Amino acid sequence: MKYTFAGRCTFAFLVKVTAVLSPLMSLCLIGAYAQSSTVIPIETQHYGLALGVDADKRVGILYFGTKLNNASEYQYAPAMYRQGDDYSGILNAAYTPSGSRNLVEPAIWVTHADGNTSLDLQYVSHQVQKTDNNVSTTNILLRDPVYALEVMLYYKVYAQENVIEQWSVIKNNEKGNVTLHKYASANLYMKANSYWLKHYHGDWAKEMQPEEIRLTSGIKVLDTKLGTRANLYQPPTFMVSLDKAASEDEGRVLFGSVEWSGNFRVDLEVDPLNNLRIIAGINPHASAYTLGKGQEFTTPMFVYTYSDKGKGEASRNMHRWARKYKIMNGNGSRLTLLNNWEATYFDFNEPKLAELIKDTKKLGVDMFLLDDGWFANKYPRNSDKAGLGDWQENVQKLPHGIGYLVKEAQNNQVKFGIWVEPEMVNPKSELYEKHPDWVIREPQRPEHLYRNQLVLDLSNPKVQDFVFGVLDNILTKNPDVAFFKWDCNAVIYNAHSAYLKDKQSHLYVEYVKGLYKVLQRFRAKYPDMPMMLCSGGGGRVDYAALQYFTEFWLSDNTDPLERIFIQWEYSYFFPAISHDNHVTDWGKQPIKFRTDVAMMGKLGFDIVVSELKPEDLKFCQNAVSTYKSISEVVWHGDLYRLASPQENDFASLMYVNEAKDRAVMFSYLVSNRYGDGSLSPVKLGGLHPDKKYTVKEINLYPNTKTTISGETSYSGNYLMTIGFNPGVNARRTSVILEITEVQ
Ligand code: DGJ
Repeated sequence: MKYTFAGRCTFAFLVKVTAVLSPLMSLCLIGAYAQSSTVIPIETQHYGLALGVDADKRVGILYFGTKLNNASEYQYAPAMYRQGDDYSGILNAAYTPSGSRNLVEPAIWVTHADGNTSLDLQYVSHQVQKTDNNVSTTNILLRDPVYALEVMLYYKVYAQENVIEQWSVIKNNEKGNVTLHKYASANLYMKANSYWLKHYHGDWAKEMQPEEIRLTSGIKVLDTKLGTRANLYQPPTFMVSLDKAASEDEGRVLFGSVEWSGNFRVDLEVDPLNNLRIIAGINPHASAYTLGKGQEFTTPMFVYTYSDKGKGEASRNMHRWARKYKIMNGNGSRLTLLNNWEATYFDFNEPKLAELIKDTKKLGVDMFLLDDGWFANKYPRNSDKAGLGDWQENVQKLPHGIGYLVKEAQNNQVKFGIWVEPEMVNPKSELYEKHPDWVIREPQRPEHLYRNQLVLDLSNPKVQDFVFGVLDNILTKNPDVAFFKWDCNAVIYNAHSAYLKDKQSHLYVEYVKGLYKVLQRFRAKYPDMPMMLCSGGGGRVDYAALQYFTEFWLSDNTDPLERIFIQWEYSYFFPAISHDNHVTDWGKQPIKFRTDVAMMGKLGFDIVVSELKPEDLKFCQNAVSTYKSISEVVWHGDLYRLASPQENDFASLMYVNEAKDRAVMFSYLVSNRYGDGSLSPVKLGGLHPDKKYTVKEINLYPNTKTTISGETSYSGNYLMTIGFNPGVNARRTSVILEITEVQ
C-alpha cells in the first residue's frame, strides 16, 4: 500500500510532539504519521516485519513480531511507544549508514571515491518478486542523495516455514574506488522490555557451549576472527528472547544465523530507547573491501525465524526450512557407516582395511569410510605432522590404490567413502615445496602452525583448481567412491596472500568466496554425492556451507554424555538429518547408551568391531536394523525437546512424523546421583490429541526385558497432558520408545 508524504515532519519529531500533547491530539498526529509513510510489510505465515519510509525518505523498522491480521495497521505501532527521543531519527534504520546523522553502530561504513566518509541512504523504490506460492523476495533500493552509491536490501520470505533470509547488495556508481569498511547483511530492530541472548562458544571437543544472558545497554558482539575454522571460537548462530528467556513452549524468540563460513560478526545493541538493534554479517575486522567503479558487493545471507510460542517452534521452523530449502538432499536419506579413524588412526594397510570392510558388512551399515592417513609418499601421512597436500595414495599402505578398496567394498555389498582435507598443507609436503606461494603465510615472519599445518590460499584461482582437483581426481579414477568427508583443521594465522598483492584486506572474504566457488564447481559436476562437512569436529557449521553438504560432524567429542548436551544445542538450529553421530569408545557408558545417543541423527560407528563382545556385536547389529526402521521419523520428523539435560537429571526428546502416526522418544540419564532418573511422567509433544497410540520400548540390549511392551494404548491427549514415564534410572540409563498410532 502506498501512502503519499504530506509534510516535512520527521517521525522522531512526531514522537516528540505526541508525547507532550493531549491524548486526542496525539491520535490526530498518529494519523498524520500514518498518512505520511510508505509501509512495506514483509510477512511469513505467523510473523511480520514492517518497514516504513519516513518524511526524509529513510527506511525504518516500524514493527517486528507476531503478524497482524491487517497489514495496514503496522504503521500505527511506533506512535504507541513513549520511550524518549531518538535525536538522530534513524535508530530504527533498516540499514544504518555511518557518518551522516547516525551516531550508533552502523550496518554500512564506507569511504567514497573522493575520501569523504559520510553516507546517507534514502528510499528510492521497492518491489516484491514471487518465486512460488511459498517463497517471495522483497527488495528495497536505497541511494545516497549526494554520492552515487546504492544499496539494495533483500528479504526472502519462506512463508510456511516462517523463515526470512536477508542480505544486501552494495553498488558503487561513483567515479573511482569506494572502500567498504563495514558491509553487514542485515539490520533488525526489535522492541521489548528486556532482551535475553543465548549464544555459544567453544573449542576443540567443546563445541556449542551455551550461555544465556540479559543484554544491557550498549553492544554485545558475537564474532570470530579465526578465518577458516570459525566455530572453534564461536558459531554464527544465536537466539534472542523478548521480555524473558523463552522456554521450549513459551515466549517470544528470534533464532538467527549468519550464512558465512568465515569471520562473521553480530552486533546486538540495546539502544538509548531500550530497543534492540541487531546487525549481522561478515566481520569487518581486517577486511576493508575495495569496490571498483561500477562494481557491486553481495553480502552473505542472514537467516532468521521468530516464534511467539517458544524455542521449540522456532527450531522446528528452522528445521523445516533447512530440510526443504538449504541442506543438500534435506528430505532424502543418509548412509549409515563404519569409520576407521578411532579404530586405526594412521596405522593401517590394505589387509587391515579389507578386514574393516568385512566388519562393515557384518555390522549391517551401508558404507565404510576411510579416514585420514591414506596418502603422500615422499613425506608419508603416518601422523598429522606430514603429507597433507600430497593426494596420491601411499604405496606402502595402499599398494593397489583406492580402486582396490572400492572393489573390496563392492564385494561385500557396502559402499566406500573417503576423507579429504583439501584446503590445507603440512610444511613437510611436496605441495609446500613446490608452491610456497599457494600458502597463507607472512613471508617475513615465523610460521605459526595449527595441528602442524597451514591453510592454502583459496583466493588464488590456481589453488581453487587444485582443491577441486583433489576430489575430482579421486572420482575420475574411482567413480564408485560414494561419499566424502571434507575436513578443515587449521585456523588462519599470519593472514597474508601472495596472490592478492596490494589487496590483503580482501583475504578473509576472498578465501570464503573461493571455497564456495570450489564447492559450486564440485556440485555442478557431482550434484548427488553425499558429503560430510567436518572441521576438526564442528569447527565450521553454517547454512552457507551446508547447501553443499548433506551432513556435518558435530564434534570429535563422542563421549555420549557430553554428546547429549552438544547434540541438544545443535538441535535448536540444525535438523537431525544433518547430524553425524558415531558410536566410539569415548566415555564410560555401555554400548547401548552410546548407540542410543548416536541414533538421534545419522548413525555411524567408529569402533573395532572385531573386538566387540558377542552380545555387544549382536546388540549393534540389531540397533542398525532398528535404526533403519525409525530413521525416517528421526530424519524428517518434527523435533520436540521434552526434558532438558541442563535442568533435569535426565534428558528426553522426541521426533514425530508429519502424519502424527509415528514418533520416537529418546531418554537418557545424565546424572549419577542415588535415585536419579525420570521420577515423574514426561509430557510428550506433537501428537494428535484424538489419536490413540501404543508406546513400546525398542532397541533393548539382548536378553533384557521391559514392561513398556506396547500393549496399552493411550490417547495423544493423555500422552501430552499427563505424559509417559520412560523409566530412566541407574539400571536403565537410556531408553528408546516407539509411539505408533493404533489403526
Ligand atoms: C579431525 C576430524 O574431526 C576427525 O574426525 C578425523 O577425521 C581427523 N580430523 C583426521 O585427521
